[in-house]
Amino acid sequence: MEGPQSSTHVPLLLPLLLLLPLGPAWQIAAQRCPQTCICDNSRLHVACRHQNLTEVPNTIPELTQRLDLQGNMLKVIPPAAFQALPYLTHLDLRHCQVELVAEGAFRGLGRLLLLNLGSNRLSSLPQEALDGLGSLRRLELERNMLEELRPGTFGALGALATLNLAHNALVYLPAMAFERGKRSSAGTAPGAPPLAPQEEDGAATPCPRACVCAAESRHSGCEGRGLQAVPRGFPNGTQLLDLRRNHFPSVPRAAFPGLGHLVSLHLQHCGITELEAGALAGLGRLLYLYLSDNRLSGLSAAALEGAPHLGYLYLERNRFLQVPGAALRALPSLFSLHLQDNAVDHLAPGDLAGVRALRWLYLSGNRITQVSPGALGTARELEKLYLDRNQLREVPTRALEGLPALLELQLSGNPLRALQDGNFRPVGRSLQHLFLNSSDLEQISPGAFSGLELGLQSLHLQKNQLRALPALPNLRQLELIDLSGNPFHCDCQLLPLHRWLAGLNLRVGATCATPPSARGQRVKAAAAVFRTCPGWAARKARRTPTFRLGGRRTPIKRRQQEADKLLVAWDIPWLTVA
Ligand SMILES: *[C@@H]1O[C@H](CO)[C@@H](O)[C@H](O)[C@H]1NC(C)=O
Ligand SMILES: *[C@@H]1O[C@H](CO)[C@@H](O)[C@H](O)[C@H]1NC(C)=O
Ligand SMILES: *[C@@H]1O[C@H](CO)[C@@H](O)[C@H](O)[C@H]1NC(C)=O
Repeated sequence: MEGPQSSTHVPLLLPLLLLLPLGPAWQIAAQRCPQTCICDNSRLHVACRHQNLTEVPNTIPELTQRLDLQGNMLKVIPPAAFQALPYLTHLDLRHCQVELVAEGAFRGLGRLLLLNLGSNRLSSLPQEALDGLGSLRRLELERNMLEELRPGTFGALGALATLNLAHNALVYLPAMAFERGKRSSAGTAPGAPPLAPQEEDGAATPCPRACVCAAESRHSGCEGRGLQAVPRGFPNGTQLLDLRRNHFPSVPRAAFPGLGHLVSLHLQHCGITELEAGALAGLGRLLYLYLSDNRLSGLSAAALEGAPHLGYLYLERNRFLQVPGAALRALPSLFSLHLQDNAVDHLAPGDLAGVRALRWLYLSGNRITQVSPGALGTARELEKLYLDRNQLREVPTRALEGLPALLELQLSGNPLRALQDGNFRPVGRSLQHLFLNSSDLEQISPGAFSGLELGLQSLHLQKNQLRALPALPNLRQLELIDLSGNPFHCDCQLLPLHRWLAGLNLRVGATCATPPSARGQRVKAAAAVFRTCPGWAARKARRTPTFRLGGRRTPIKRRQQEADKLLVAWDIPWLTVA
């Protein structure tokens, strides 16, 4: 997921000022483009995706603003790894197998606005790992293995507006993670409960038999101990309670007494069929509730009543036949709802009523055939909607009305077959990422993506049945389009697509399947196929490389404001971010 397009911190004129006097320098630099990368000299973007790189290439042009290193094998980000690239504003390091970010790794990146470290293998971050990122507005740490964050980890990030820590082993953040200036002190922070004194570690700490209670981390757990009932007697300061892989068919009323400090409760793989009314009574600080891999088919509002601050609810791989709408109304702060791999077959009006704060909704791998208009109606903050691997036969366009903040829409793996004009128009102003891969698509109307011109950054159309595709030159922000795995028929009607792709500085993966004479050629490169087509010469002469200076004509202000609303404090409601 991409962050804000630009920022008020960097005047939009900057690329212009830099580029005009330094044009020739950039051109020289562009010639130095590393072999494994694609350098887009008009936009100062460099992409070196999926190249098995083990280190940052050293010939990246110095003026580069956006660097995409997704899908490499960096493993370690050494100190000052990007020192030679002081103009970077966006750095994408997703899927790079990163296990370690050294202290000072990003030193010198004082202009960086977005850092994406998602989908790596980080289990911790050294205290000074993020030093030097004084302009950073968005930090993505999604899908790592972070368990704990040290005091001061984010202390240097004075401009940070959005922090994504979803899908980590993490579970609570010490308030001190945001504190500035007192990094080495392991002492207490305002607002956080005092750390348990060292003497309490050991025999003095109350802890149920068969469980382990760590006073210092305030984690307690009895994972996989064959328990038949939720034990009692955990230390009252416990913040994380891990009860996975036991057997609690029913969770009774007030099952967690005295745990008013609990933030994260793990109840996966416990054979749970029911949460009784009041089961979560007293868990006023609970933020994460993990109920995945159980046998729940319903959830009542009464069951959740004691946890009004719940932000993340994990219900994957249960037996839900519908969205537990009534229960969700008891969760005014719900931020992320995970209902993947259940048996929901439709979304009806009212199913998501009351989830006004919801940002991420995961419904992948259900049996949804219909999303009724109004079904998502009140989720005005919704950013990610995952409806992939369902049974939708058409894009639920009308249900997308009223989702002004949607950034990412996942519709892959549905039997869609065709896209109609204006299918995505309701989310045109916000949508950045659209997934339509493996959707049996045979036909795409020329106006299917209309409305998305100024925002769409990635478009996934791979693994469909497309023999033809209109050119999409109006998608001006496109940074990724995947057309691989389609049986393109390369005759003259594909000329507009060929022409568009040839002028697009992106790897697209479109390959001719027919006629036999063109089989295996890239649509983009198959000039021989198109040279004899009517109109080839005339239009070719007019084709000059487009030279765009950043070219962001997006309503930046508005987007920025929306991004700003995604405050860290939102993720972690009781923390105050200085
Ligand atoms: C990266 O390594 C994998 C596994 O060794 C290989 O299959 C793939 O082709 C490599 N990719 C590149 C771009 O070298
Ligand atoms: C835990 O309980 C003890 C005694 O009941 C009390 O003194 C202490 O303040 C409590 N601690 C917390 C963190 O609530
Ligand atoms: C669609 O493509 C994305 C990105 O490559 C991938 O992660 C996802 O699994 C694909 N979805 C399906 C249903 O194939």
